[in-house]
Amino acid sequence: MALKNANPLETTAWEKLVLHYNDIKDVHMKKWFEEDASRAKTLCIKWEDFYVDFSKNRITEDTLKLLYELVDEIDLKDAIQKYFSGDIINQTEQRAVLHTALRDSTSEEILVNNENIIPKIRAAQNQLKAFSNSIVSGQKTGYTNKAFTDIVNIGIGGSDLGPAMVVEALSYYKNHLNTHFVSNVDGDHVNEVIKGLNPETTLFIIVSKTFTTQETLSNANFIRNWFLSQAPEEAVKNHFVAVSTNIEKVKEFGIDETNIFPMWDWVGGRFSLWSTVGLSICLSVGYENFEHLLEGAHQADTHFRNEDFNRNIPVILALIGIFYNNFFNAETEAIIPYSQYLNQFATYLQQANMESNGKGIDRNGVSINYQTGPIIWGEPGTNAQHAFFQLIHQGTKLIPTDFIGFGKSLHGNQDQQDKLMANFFAQTEALLKGKSMEDVVNELQEQNVRTEDLQKIAVFKVFEGNRPTNTILIDKLTPKSLGKLIAFYEHKIFVQGIVWNVYSYDQFGVELGKQLAGKILSELNEDAQMPHDGSTQNLIARYKSLK
Ligand code: F6P
Repeated sequence: MALKNANPLETTAWEKLVLHYNDIKDVHMKKWFEEDASRAKTLCIKWEDFYVDFSKNRITEDTLKLLYELVDEIDLKDAIQKYFSGDIINQTEQRAVLHTALRDSTSEEILVNNENIIPKIRAAQNQLKAFSNSIVSGQKTGYTNKAFTDIVNIGIGGSDLGPAMVVEALSYYKNHLNTHFVSNVDGDHVNEVIKGLNPETTLFIIVSKTFTTQETLSNANFIRNWFLSQAPEEAVKNHFVAVSTNIEKVKEFGIDETNIFPMWDWVGGRFSLWSTVGLSICLSVGYENFEHLLEGAHQADTHFRNEDFNRNIPVILALIGIFYNNFFNAETEAIIPYSQYLNQFATYLQQANMESNGKGIDRNGVSINYQTGPIIWGEPGTNAQHAFFQLIHQGTKLIPTDFIGFGKSLHGNQDQQDKLMANFFAQTEALLKGKSMEDVVNELQEQNVRTEDLQKIAVFKVFEGNRPTNTILIDKLTPKSLGKLIAFYEHKIFVQGIVWNVYSYDQFGVELGKQLAGKILSELNEDAQMPHDGSTQNLIARYKSLK
């Protein structure tokens, strides 16, 4: 059954939220902390190895109550039920959305169009396990009988970002294999990646759900030619495997049917790292760790599915995000992991979130008159502090920020871990409290700054504070905790899409540019000229003169 649809602005809860927002919008969070000694405890959830503190937000318990009323009114419970049970909730593409089934090791039946998908999932997982074990152990070798040393994942978007993010995030757990990623159609990318590779010991995984993506096929063809310039044709079967739903196209490319890992249209590209798209993860950290990743995600799924909304981590994070997006008019959300391992986490979330909720038409097919998906960005701390935190602290924009940190460091360098985490805590505290004029003046006086200089400089050193943050403190970065973290963000996106009444699982917005690029490509290589606007026409002419 289809998702229900309702304009959130027409709900009673939204009307109440508008009034409530006006009451609290100018209150400084400091006041709430001063008035209520239990605020930090109330607005916090401890769950498994997660400690999620959302008390440093410009919300009260009343805000949350109204937001729960909102999701009750639009029947989020019903939507969650449909999401997990395989209803066609991606209605514009007529597909179910079941990445959650991939990490569900307990269910024996989940139906998609009356077909049980669980046996297919188990078969694909067995294939992943057998294949990755045989490569990692060195049992399966390249065409000259040498064990593999390098893996190259060729894919883009969801066929690249998720696996690349996880492989880097779990690099502490990696084995001897070196994993590389080629995504951009920029030929310099592929050239740089293959530079140091030995074709005899390199395995190439072509990952493309559709197997029609220009970037991936160009890179795959380039690499195949490079490989065949050094190896015989029959070696292709030892060195090239593919992950796709499009078996015919993969076979046309010349990949043996036994080297194809299946994918299904009920897994969206940007949510596919849990599927066979995660082959590079299995190879890099071993299948057992991949299973732990799935296990963690499944635990988060169970929490999301069963927990009351007022104790439900992804629901609460989603609702707080909506409050900033639609009431405070915050345009962006920053994601700052205090872990270099999570270097690509924000980049990964950009696709997951912005390709999902960057929509302007509602589920009625009507143009939307309220804000939907936010702009997602971020970099790891502490580097981010030395790059753009100035703007978060003293700029004119409100930027709700998620701080993600881990209690234990993986390499056990306690001194640096303490320094890292001191910064982590200091930033959210500074963003909350700010620094008053009185404090600035006292500090300058202690430094014996002359009064006339003090008067000139003090105003620039004041921080108003009241800048919102969520803190997600996790015991340790493990495959399991990473699985939980990613799944929570996936569900946050789902909840927000339901409230904004959009179809979160299509991505028609990426099509127009692709189509035009196809036409312009023929123009770049021929004398043909197509009608363009003056600017594009001049740019193309200039480019042609440089070729
Ligand atoms: O950018 C559009 C998109 O369709 C993404 O949604 C997808 O992850 C990516 O292209 C790659 O698609 P494919 O896996 O089919 O090559």
